[in-house]
Amino acid sequence: ESVHNQAPAKRSGFATALGALIATLGSAIGLGNIWKFPYLTGENGGAAFLVLYLLATFLVGLPVMISEILLGRAGRANVITTMRKLSPSPRQPWWLIGAAGALSAFLIMAFYTEVAGWVFAYVVRSLTSNILSTDPQVTLQTFNALVSDPFQSLLWQWVVLILVGGIITFGVAKGIEATTKRLIPLLFILLLIVDVRALTLPGAGAGLAFLFKPDFSKISTTAALIALGLAFFKLSIGMGAMITYGSYWKDDQNIPSTTLRVVLSDLAVSLLAGIAIFPVVFTYGFEPAAGTKLLFITLPAVFAQMPLGNVFIFLFFLLTSFAATGAMVSLVEVLVAFANEQFHLSRKAATWITVGLLALVGSTAALSNSTLAGFTPFGKTLFDLYDFVTSNVLLPVGGLFIAIFVGWVLKPEQVIAQLTNGGTLSNHGVVRVFLFVVRYISPLLVLVVLLDSLGVF
Ligand code: PFF
Repeated sequence: ESVHNQAPAKRSGFATALGALIATLGSAIGLGNIWKFPYLTGENGGAAFLVLYLLATFLVGLPVMISEILLGRAGRANVITTMRKLSPSPRQPWWLIGAAGALSAFLIMAFYTEVAGWVFAYVVRSLTSNILSTDPQVTLQTFNALVSDPFQSLLWQWVVLILVGGIITFGVAKGIEATTKRLIPLLFILLLIVDVRALTLPGAGAGLAFLFKPDFSKISTTAALIALGLAFFKLSIGMGAMITYGSYWKDDQNIPSTTLRVVLSDLAVSLLAGIAIFPVVFTYGFEPAAGTKLLFITLPAVFAQMPLGNVFIFLFFLLTSFAATGAMVSLVEVLVAFANEQFHLSRKAATWITVGLLALVGSTAALSNSTLAGFTPFGKTLFDLYDFVTSNVLLPVGGLFIAIFVGWVLKPEQVIAQLTNGGTLSNHGVVRVFLFVVRYISPLLVLVVLLDSLGVF
């Protein structure tokens, strides 16, 4: 039985606790770890940003993720039905979290498919030409040639969209999960190998200092909001996606400890990606604040210094494309489940209508480095705008309401029942800490950061 099957009568969920952990990781680990984390860390001052990111992850990300999973397991349905079922009165519009989540999923996909397209293009390029070089000018040129070409940008985005649509309609999402299970460890090992090479480059010390030695003068409100948004984005939370995943978790699964393991593994993958990139930056004179292109311009340099570098870079982008696909399947699943439920469309129709709309809106992100480069509403390209609105507005606001719902609206007995599995686990200390954090700390932090970024203080 596929975990993506929405029919309540046939719900069976993950067969094992490990299955639930792996599938949840499949949604969490993606371009957020390998592409977004390093470039945002590079843009926002390195280690100081990492500190903010860790605070955001443990004080907000982890509690909100536990909240979503427990809501999902308590409701055992899709986001909207779950929120309707669990709200104290049907008149309270908590289901809007699900609706806002669908909007977030749509906007994330609009730019995520473009970056995934770059990854796919690099998979093919690493086979057909030599993309390895330690010269920043050369690797930048390779990247620019791709993104400034409107035809190639659209082509690769559509390849990605059709692939993801196909995976969902042909019901092979389960196959993707089985594949993810094998590939996550491989990605991990490959990152370790790249890290060993990166750490033996002459600029490794400077790279590590940038990543791990905080310069607290770099801390700002903007950086705090970005760190918070990154934590939400990376953990796939704040939009209800994890409510759906939680609905498939087993009754005897320990929610806090499994969630903690997801968060730690997700963090490990990001740090390994950072360790692969920053030594290269400081060895060959790349710009740490290069932005969205950072991954693509720096990696060819580290692989250029490795035996069989051509093979390794191919494997690296291939594994990254699988990680990105797993994350995209979970995003499109949110949209398909929503259209299926809200507009009574068949799954097949819902998938292809979604893919069509994504191709339309997504193309405005794909063309933002070429044809539409001059179109910058609110001072941002459309690519940046979709990214900003989701990570820095929709996900934190969604997370705020999820924390408020679990902390203040849901009966504490229900929270305790989920976190102790009906009293069979002696998680009492954990429950107490969780309730305190989810009531006071997480909502307050999100609120302060959001209001501060609006200039309220
Ligand atoms: N967590 C994914 C990543 O880090 O790449 C992105 C993502 C997937 C965000 C699913 C939100 C989501 F619902």
